[in-house]
Amino acid sequence: MKIAFTNIKELLQIRDISVKKVAGADLKILPSLKNAFLIIENDIISDFGLMQDIPNLKVDKTIDVSGKMILPSWCDSHTHLVYAGNREGEFVDRINGLSYEEIANKGGGILNSAKKLQETSLEDLYKQSAERLEEIMALGTGAVEIKSGYGLRLDAEIKMLTVARKLAKNYPITIKTTFLGAHAFPKEFKENKDAYVDLVCNTMLPKIAKANLADFIDVFCETGYFSVEQTEKIILAGKKYGLQAKIHSNQFTSIGGIQVATKHDALSVDHLEILTDMDLESLQNSSVMPVSLPSCSYFLSIPYTPARKIIDAGLPLALATDYNPGSTPSGNMNFVVATACIKMRMTPEEAINAATINGAYAMHIADTHGSITKGKKANFIVTKKINSYAKIPYAFGSNLIDFVVLDGEIG
Ligand code: NIG
Ligand code: FE
Repeated sequence: MKIAFTNIKELLQIRDISVKKVAGADLKILPSLKNAFLIIENDIISDFGLMQDIPNLKVDKTIDVSGKMILPSWCDSHTHLVYAGNREGEFVDRINGLSYEEIANKGGGILNSAKKLQETSLEDLYKQSAERLEEIMALGTGAVEIKSGYGLRLDAEIKMLTVARKLAKNYPITIKTTFLGAHAFPKEFKENKDAYVDLVCNTMLPKIAKANLADFIDVFCETGYFSVEQTEKIILAGKKYGLQAKIHSNQFTSIGGIQVATKHDALSVDHLEILTDMDLESLQNSSVMPVSLPSCSYFLSIPYTPARKIIDAGLPLALATDYNPGSTPSGNMNFVVATACIKMRMTPEEAINAATINGAYAMHIADTHGSITKGKKANFIVTKKINSYAKIPYAFGSNLIDFVVLDGEIG
């Protein structure tokens, strides 16, 4: 099936296949074509260019998108989208004065979600998660990473990852999965945390890797959660099974998570709300993608990742949602892009680059996603009629998406 999109007001983020990520001052550049066409063949972008050069070929369908823009779909490289139930109760507790940490210490937080998930059947978990996935697809996300980490027991971790793999099979969206057994310590390991790390490395990981349920491995490296030493142990164990690391780091404190991640060539370090000069320096000497999660900062009222500092130091930056029931009950990448511009002083060009090509890099899919490139997946957003793409972050509460195309399927 060949479809031509014609009279595109502006076709955004056109890139050569060799571009895998964008860093520093280059983030300010968003290559585009005005008054353009785009042709897709099944699920692949086959051609694009200026309307005046449109080839005279036979297509099955022509869609006139006059006044509308096209950009690659969002690449959300950090989510916990498979979870059971919600935590509105804790949300209200926080409004009434408790901190995220105090709630976690009371047995709430991740352990609360783990209990719910352990009690939920695979079928029910799939249904709840599919609803969230459909919602983010309509909001323009075309590739998403989904972590485990609310199981904290072999059977429940497997249940989460099985659901994520099943979603990948049933929906036209690319899904990468990450094993996050080291998300929190179950109550019964409170006094013997290293025994839980052993369980993650020696029991859970081998089974999950053998069943091919995970593409990456993650650890919540944070004061009160997993130490730098424990994180290193888990990263090395993951490496043995060919799983590259994506590390939760520097959300509340800077304890050396970035250093251990860069030392072992992690793919990304995510959160980075608290970033020291030494952390910045470690990132500068590595190929690790820094990932910022602005809706988490918004929801928890914690500092935002210092994006200006990171970008002005010549580094790349990716934006993701962190969709999860505790710190970010939203999978809306449009809101993430807007918040990055409004609260982190990223320009619209920087934010769109960070949410597309750099997000793709942080999932290892920059060869197929994240830009309008011949041969890449036909995954893109068609906007409503807008005057400039700055309207996307500017109109932060409005849905400016007319329709999405995911793997060549018009949504
Ligand atoms: O990325 N920081 C650790 N994990 C999640 C929050 C998990 C939860 O509160 O359920 C995050 O913010
Ligand atoms: Fe997270």
